[in-house]
This record gives sequence, C-alpha cells and structure tokens, in this order.
Amino acid sequence: MILIENTVDKVRETVKNWKAQGLSVGLVPTMGYLHEGHQSLIERAVQENDRVVVSIFVNPIQFAPNEDLETYPRDLEKDSILCNDTGADLIFHPQPEEMYPNGFSTQVVMNNLTAELCGKTRPTHFSGVCTVVSKLFNIVAPNRAYFGEKDAQQLAIIKRMVKDLNFDIEIVGCPIVRESDGLAKSSRNTYLNEQERKAALILSKSILLGKEMAANGERSSAMIIKAMTDLINTEPLAKIDYVSIVNAETIEPIDTLCGEVLTAIAVYIGKTRLIDNFMISV
Ligand code: PAF
Repeated sequence: MILIENTVDKVRETVKNWKAQGLSVGLVPTMGYLHEGHQSLIERAVQENDRVVVSIFVNPIQFAPNEDLETYPRDLEKDSILCNDTGADLIFHPQPEEMYPNGFSTQVVMNNLTAELCGKTRPTHFSGVCTVVSKLFNIVAPNRAYFGEKDAQQLAIIKRMVKDLNFDIEIVGCPIVRESDGLAKSSRNTYLNEQERKAALILSKSILLGKEMAANGERSSAMIIKAMTDLINTEPLAKIDYVSIVNAETIEPIDTLCGEVLTAIAVYIGKTRLIDNFMISV
C-alpha cells in the first residue's frame, strides 16, 4: 500500500533519496476527497515522472471564516486507495500544526490576477493558496506540479507566482473532468442534495451556451455574459456570484474576445458555491 508521510522531514528525506538516484518527481497538490478530476492529474503525473507525490491537506488559511473549512469532506482511506491504484508513490498528509507551527508569520501575496473572478468575493483565498503551494514546492521540490483547469484563476496565479519567484518547476494544467451529464467534478458536489444536483447542471449548460456563441463568431463579451446570465437565472436554485470574461493570463476583463480568453462562472446552488469555465483561443 502507498506510503503516507505526515512530516516535512520525512517527505524531504524520501524525495532526496529519489533525486540522488536521478529520478524525476511530480507533485499533485490536493485537499483530498479525491475524484476522477484529481485522478486525471495523478495519471498525467505518473506518465511524466519517475515518482509522484500527492499532497492531501485541507489548507485552513485559504478559507475565510464564513466558509466551509470545518465541513470540507475528508476520507483519507478512500483517497489512499485511489492514489495507490493510480500509481502514486507517496501521500504527504500533514496536520495544520506541521504546516503552520506556532509563530508562523509569512504570506505569499499576489498583487495582480486576484481582483476579478473568485478573488473578488474571496479576497484572502489566493494568498492562502500561494502560501501553501509555495511551501509544498519547497518541501517536495518537484520537477513538475499538476493543477486542474477547473480552477483556472488558481492555475494562472500559480503560473505567475512560479515565474515571479523563480521556482524551477514546470506547471502542468490538466483539462476539466465532467460527470456524464456535464457537471464539472468537484469535491464540493457532495454537498448537493438530489434537487440541487439537478439544478447544478445549469452551470455546464451555460458554459456550453457561451462556448457555442464564441465558436459561432460572437466576439462581444457583454453579449455572451448576458446570454449565460439569463440562462442561469432560469434556474430558481441558482444564485450567480459572477459570470466573467477575462484574458486567460492576466485575468483582466476584456470587452472583445481576443487572444487567450477565459470565460468563468461561480454560482451558488443553495449554499454550495460551484465554479466552471471554458477557454478559447481567438
Ligand atoms: O486546488 C486545490 O485543491 C487547492 O487550492 C490547492 C492547490 C491544493 C492548495 O491548497
């Protein structure tokens, strides 16, 4: 069965041994409760590296006080089976005190790329993400790290951070994995009751609509946003956080689709906040 380590020292020691043998290392950072989306990241990491570390850590500093830190789903046993069966070599599963011991005082703050999309309503979220991801990069020192494109803003921010802070790590983005009916896989889908699960399909339907409009030549962000918003508003259980069209690298809003474009949405279904997106190169 796969090795599970809880301490920074043990992970460092294991990775050091691998590197001494000339082996390459891939890292898949996660918060656990793994699904097929995470599995696709692990599969890709296994294909491209000699050894793969999966970190499982529900990072407290990326949750605001009103968010779901306490209720965030956890199942280490099931996660370790998935990691083992997918070919990962090591799980790093630290306790919060291991990552943030008494006296912890440093934050990695991203100045740009955080004003729009999720950064607008979750203003402390990305400094929490950048801080923990920097720590994981320093602990594991991987050659490559794998992130899902579902969190497109997170991926853009991490790519920027790696450039800005000169981490010698290749960042690999992996495509969104969907349920057979279109809903993007997410650990938070587990919060949805039967009625909400049906209502949640409005996210992927609106993504499909936006994608079709863009593919058919619509270049006005306002037109696409309006059509997607109108569609989402037909679902009584849905409450829009944002429907936005931005430059995929800078996360700045654009009026006209041009270059690498990210169309992203966040929608509450009941109390559960879900995100989805599509990218298009114009
Ligand atoms: O995407 C996630 O699951 C988290 O934000 C990450 C990257 C593991 C950092 O806690």
